[in-house]
Amino acid sequence: MSTHSEKHLDETLREEVAEHRAVEGSRLSRDTDVLNPFPRYRKMREEDPVHYNEEEKLWVIFRYDDVLRIVNDSSTFSSERVFARRRQDEQMTEEEREAARSLLSTDPPRHRQLRNLISQAFTPRSIAQLTPRITEIVNERLDLVIDQGRMDIVGDLSYPLPVIVIAEMLGIPTSERDQFKRWSDAIVSPREEEAIQASREMRTYFKGIIEQRRKQPKDDLISDLIASQIDGQHLTEPELLSFCILLLVAGNETTTNLIGNAFLCFDEQPEVMDQMRADQSLIPSAIEEVLRYRSPVQLLVRAVATDTQIGKQPVRAGEVVVPCLSSANRDETQFPNPDVFDIRRTPNRHVSFGHGIHFCIGAPLARLETKIALTIMLERLTDIRRERDNRKRLSPLEPIQSTFVYGVKHLPVTFKRA
Ligand code: HEM
Repeated sequence: MSTHSEKHLDETLREEVAEHRAVEGSRLSRDTDVLNPFPRYRKMREEDPVHYNEEEKLWVIFRYDDVLRIVNDSSTFSSERVFARRRQDEQMTEEEREAARSLLSTDPPRHRQLRNLISQAFTPRSIAQLTPRITEIVNERLDLVIDQGRMDIVGDLSYPLPVIVIAEMLGIPTSERDQFKRWSDAIVSPREEEAIQASREMRTYFKGIIEQRRKQPKDDLISDLIASQIDGQHLTEPELLSFCILLLVAGNETTTNLIGNAFLCFDEQPEVMDQMRADQSLIPSAIEEVLRYRSPVQLLVRAVATDTQIGKQPVRAGEVVVPCLSSANRDETQFPNPDVFDIRRTPNRHVSFGHGIHFCIGAPLARLETKIALTIMLERLTDIRRERDNRKRLSPLEPIQSTFVYGVKHLPVTFKRA
């Protein structure tokens, strides 16, 4: 079993490269590398686990223990100081710099205060109440495609689902979701100017909504945030804006990719879909394994607050470190046979949602959406396989253009009704 899925992965990718290289040229082999960085990560864990990237002037951290130590020690490895560096960005206005400061880029004690404000809305208990609505959305999305015998997992299901859910929680019209998609894609893209422009447009949009809710509060998260106080003080407008944008972006790209990545994993080992159909209690551990095996968030960023060492490598205050979650999740010292996709893996202490004080607040929501989506897909459809053309060639995969997120832009599959 140990080499089964690895071999399958290699074979599938090689097959795709061989078949499409003539048509797609070098782009495809580049794409394949983006989707299979794991051999490179293994080499880095062995040979250069604390690697200095000269071009970007930062340290990339590849081993599980080092990654965990960094995210658990927020006084030595600061999230806020990363933001402080961004404050120097000349393209941003003062207001934009202020708004760029979010929960994600705050250290204690402010971090704890901000986190308390929204943690209530995201507890497993509050999130469980969304089950009927999530179920309804998934069924509606499948109703639209079930007669066609084919769908794009991303476009037809895994993109719309989390956007609709978070938009409804925030209290904004879901009719705007195509626009949200464009904004959130731009915000995670490596093209700085596009990202700044998109967050500018998004802020203007949310300002309008916040103004409406100030005048007429509703039963939604934006109204709750407007009403909330820390030490008797309301959140400032930039703080409110950054909350809205963070929730929309964090809830968007990530869960979309978790569901897409799940079907990428299942397609390499289709028998696991029958196993989950026969025993639905396997679905939660299968989701954890997808999170580990194809982590939707690849990297985090921290700034060194005081001189220290990572492994044997000294790092100095002010330097930037980038813990690579995706490599930590394949670390052989933590996970036996790390390159095997095993839906029964236990324990599975992956770090895909981070760890410590910034641990993903949306994890219960992401897990629930994915569980419902997979359960319904497996109940209503069978023979879910990546689409092939009439010469039985797989359609090529196009990775998302982002250093931070791992996933594909489209995932066309064919299926039969169950
Ligand atoms: C599969 C889906 C998801 C993954 C893989 C993921 C991953 C992460 C990771 C790795 C962090 C830690 C960042 C750090 O330490 O710097 C984080 C934080 C966060 N995530 Fe998620 N996330 C997901 C879904 C969501 C959803 C659905 C939401 C909300 C709607 C959300 C909201 C947040 C927020 C607000 C934070 C900041 C928490 C803090 O700084 O205290 N995430 N997420």
